[in-house]
Amino acid sequence: MAEIKTIGVLTSGGDAPGMNAAIRAVVRAGIHYGLKVMGIRKGYNGLINGDIFEMNLRSVSDILHRGGTILQTARSAEFATEAGLNKAVTITKIFGIDGIVVIGGDGSFRGARDLSNLGVPTVGIPGTIDNDIACSDYTIGFDTALNTVKDAIDKIRDTATSHERCSVIEVMGRHAGYIAIHAGIATGAEAIIIPEKEFDFHRDIIKPIIEGKHRGKKHDIVILAEGIGGAVEMAKKIQAETGIEARATILGHIQRGGSPTVMDRVIASQMGAKAVQLLKDGIGNRVIAMKDNKIVDFDIVEALNMTKTVDQDMVELAKILAM
Ligand code: F6P
Repeated sequence: MAEIKTIGVLTSGGDAPGMNAAIRAVVRAGIHYGLKVMGIRKGYNGLINGDIFEMNLRSVSDILHRGGTILQTARSAEFATEAGLNKAVTITKIFGIDGIVVIGGDGSFRGARDLSNLGVPTVGIPGTIDNDIACSDYTIGFDTALNTVKDAIDKIRDTATSHERCSVIEVMGRHAGYIAIHAGIATGAEAIIIPEKEFDFHRDIIKPIIEGKHRGKKHDIVILAEGIGGAVEMAKKIQAETGIEARATILGHIQRGGSPTVMDRVIASQMGAKAVQLLKDGIGNRVIAMKDNKIVDFDIVEALNMTKTVDQDMVELAKILAM
């Protein structure tokens, strides 16, 4: 691989708290190693359109604690086409970009792989609140999103207890139940319904609610992962079956914003710096990951072929503790 002197950095897909910390680390580590760092705005769209600018140490001042991404982000339909991808490759040549750090989720990594295949070295950093990147135990934004969900559910619980109601709360996670299961354990949910595990309405939702009522419970929290959906209908069905008043809350995009937690800032900083170290050593086509609390990297194609699923022990634990 040719020597890498200039790197680009972009954020792609859904934003996640901590992406700014990762951008900051890429810029500052890059400059530390003597590289020129170019910011690419609005994900792959910015790459296709040449929306690119040189970053310096001050470009990333005062962003460590901010949610969102200063580079902005997009889900680019054009980049998924052959013409769009070729245009992106041409733009990297015009701007003299020798390698790119892509901060995002699986979809963004597929784009990074395609760029790599066309000779543009890339390194992916897992950034999504969903924690659904198979090669990594952790993705940037997950902890902050969980804390937001925890705060919201604690508040909902207060009012649910006052009214002796059941609250059905839908959380994000696309096709994955990581947010649901972790939030459910952290907030003491009676039932947690996730796409990874089949559920029976009567056995897994109605039975625990009725039994809890007999044990003197004054509220019920049912957490529904986005991949299952239908919180409003679920609340209606629970009310009809149990006679307990039920209300639905869909937490939505509140889960994606806010100042990143310490965990997200630190891991994002480590991953950002690691991505730059690889590129400056001439190593591309990798994905950064966290494994057993260590920052490691995988071949991008291998990473995309890996699978992971929620820990069944966590699912069981949630059930045991929901008494
Ligand atoms: O991947 C992050 C995520 O927030 C998912 O949990 C959710 O399904 C999706 O993005 C929502 O995407 P958008 O912001 O484009 O509506």
